[in-house]
Amino acid sequence: MTTVSSTLSVPQTGSVPRHIAIIMDGNGRWATRRLLPRTAGHMKGLETVRDTVKACAERGVAFLTVFAFSSENWRRPPEEVSFLMKLFRTTLEREVSKLHANGIRLKVVGDRNRFDARLQEMIDAAEALTAENKRLTLTICANYGGRWDIMQAFGKMRAQDPNAETFTEENLTPHLSMAYAPEPDLFIRTGGEMRISNFLLWQLAYTEMYFTDTFWPDFDATALDAAIASYRQRERRFGRTSEQLIEK
Ligand code: IPE
Ligand code: IPE
Ligand code: MG
Repeated sequence: MTTVSSTLSVPQTGSVPRHIAIIMDGNGRWATRRLLPRTAGHMKGLETVRDTVKACAERGVAFLTVFAFSSENWRRPPEEVSFLMKLFRTTLEREVSKLHANGIRLKVVGDRNRFDARLQEMIDAAEALTAENKRLTLTICANYGGRWDIMQAFGKMRAQDPNAETFTEENLTPHLSMAYAPEPDLFIRTGGEMRISNFLLWQLAYTEMYFTDTFWPDFDATALDAAIASYRQRERRFGRTSEQLIEK
């Protein structure tokens, strides 16, 4: 079972994180430092996504989740928002067949209703095409917010059992948008900020956190290995004592 809850039982862990979740931040600043438009940073950041998918697959990571566009990113200047939407579309057009050829399953999570109809169709088609791939699951969080996710799950849970007075974690979690994946083992945020910015609020309960000043466009395989090396140093106690871990 992949969806073991870290609060209901102690998950199995290994030296390679099974699930890495990344806030890809710093594209704009990367570009501005080079006197380039922010959009150049987003394009360069896309190359980093490609390289990171490959590096994760090679290292045996089973789930890679990347935050591409938050539910709050609509607050950006309209030109930047429309550039990002266009980039999402062209990326799906160009990359899905390559992902499929490489055994990657693609998932897109977030509120899709705000995307135009054509983009929604493309997402559905990409997910359907790659659904059976086993090598790595790449999840793109787009128009995603952790609070949105919890609220939409809550709504579905209520709809399933409208007369229930109390609910348990087990009633809620199957409705979360990433119910198909284990909770992230390792969280990475590039770009120097140390905040969650409404990413996977529920799922990060016991995730190991790693923050780096490196801007996303500069985050290469060496930087990924540094994050994984840091992860390996951590003692994942899930509420227990160190002594209990040694006894095992
Ligand atoms: C992350 O980089 C990408 C998106 C949010 C789409 P930013 O665009 O936030 O880059 P900075 O933080 O302004 O440098
Ligand atoms: C978080 O980055 C969202 C994504 C990377 C998609 P932001 O750049 O939007 O986060 P804040 O505004 O600095 O918290
Ligand atoms: Mg940012």
